[in-house]
Amino acid sequence: MRCSWFQTFEFRNLKPQRLEWALGLNLLRGENGAGKTNLLEVLRLLSGWGPFRGRSASEAPRWEGTAGRAVLKGGFSGEEDLEIAAFVGRRVDLRRDGKPVGAATVRNRVPALSFTPEDLALVEGAPAIRRRFLDGLCALLLPLYAFRLLEYRKALRQRAAALKQNRGLGATAKVLAPLASWIWASRAAAVDLLRMGLSEVSELLPGPTEIAFSRGGSVGLEDGLEDYWTSLARRAPLEGRIGLPVVGPHRDDLLVASGGKAALQVFSRGHRRRVAVALMMAAGWAVERKLRRAPLLLLDEVAAELDDTGRSVLVEALKARGWQVFAATAESAFDGWPGAVWVVSEGSVQRNA
Ligand SMILES: Nc1ncnc2c1ncn2[C@@H]1O[C@H](COP(=O)(O)OP(=O)(O)OP(=O)(O)O)[C@@H](O)[C@H]1O
Ligand SMILES: [Mg+2]
Repeated sequence: MRCSWFQTFEFRNLKPQRLEWALGLNLLRGENGAGKTNLLEVLRLLSGWGPFRGRSASEAPRWEGTAGRAVLKGGFSGEEDLEIAAFVGRRVDLRRDGKPVGAATVRNRVPALSFTPEDLALVEGAPAIRRRFLDGLCALLLPLYAFRLLEYRKALRQRAAALKQNRGLGATAKVLAPLASWIWASRAAAVDLLRMGLSEVSELLPGPTEIAFSRGGSVGLEDGLEDYWTSLARRAPLEGRIGLPVVGPHRDDLLVASGGKAALQVFSRGHRRRVAVALMMAAGWAVERKLRRAPLLLLDEVAAELDDTGRSVLVEALKARGWQVFAATAESAFDGWPGAVWVVSEGSVQRNA
């Protein structure tokens, strides 16, 4: 899918305007605070995601606005034509062609993947970064995923509380077990797709790269449900000692290796970032393959974390895939960008001639 235009009204610092985007590569350039991330956020909201991490929907309406609600509208084309509207206030209400629609449906129709500098630490960063990456992909591939993950987290908090108070753990485990094994299966399937995707974009990789999914706290039985219960029994003494649940998707990881050794040992920092870029592109490939829709890529300041080679490798890959891309940058990164360049200044956007 592609966003052919969007317009915003009372959204953060953006001036009300209708913007006709290039269907291929779009670069948003401007000073700090100009509104680049806000523009990417418009696309996140219109594609069924929440605001960027650390930002809240209730802060989205312009501070001096009177209505307390921002209105976003966007036209999407490609695999089908649709118009999405988002009314953003304390919550986000979505409409598709004028009718109320759920966020999961919108995510599925207009699949958008966003990446921030933090994602470039995919290989060396904390497991939570890799889980978030997997969750983003799974939420696109499976409409039920986001909901079940929420249910899992709710039940997990109850289990954590039960562990602390040293009281009946059986009830929470019964709720958690089917959710955990479903999430494990979903993530494992996503990793299989990612692996195929990586082989499609292997020119991006600095060397042989293998990925594998690792279930949190698992004793390694094949059947997910059986594995959950057995692992839980095995780790019960540990859980009791530290008072924290150690088995389940909240402890999963995506293992990245090269020639059988951890990627962290084999690849330099720059090369690890290239693996992260390759994983981003592989996620796009997985989405396209499974949903039969081209993803939109939202890249916020990713250039800042790449050296010249990393940047040119990324641009070549973006060009080759033919997806619609919105990349924001505050520096003069991406000189010679092979697509439309937009200059963002104090909430206004102008195409660079
Ligand atoms: N609700 C709001 N109403 C008005 N202005 C807002 C609102 N929320 C944020 N802003 C303004 O939006 C600007 C931030 O925009 P944004 O984060 O998109 O900048 P940016 O171009 O991405 O900058 P950077 O290069 O630092 O990432 C700030 O100037 C901030 O004051
Ligand atoms: Mg920004």
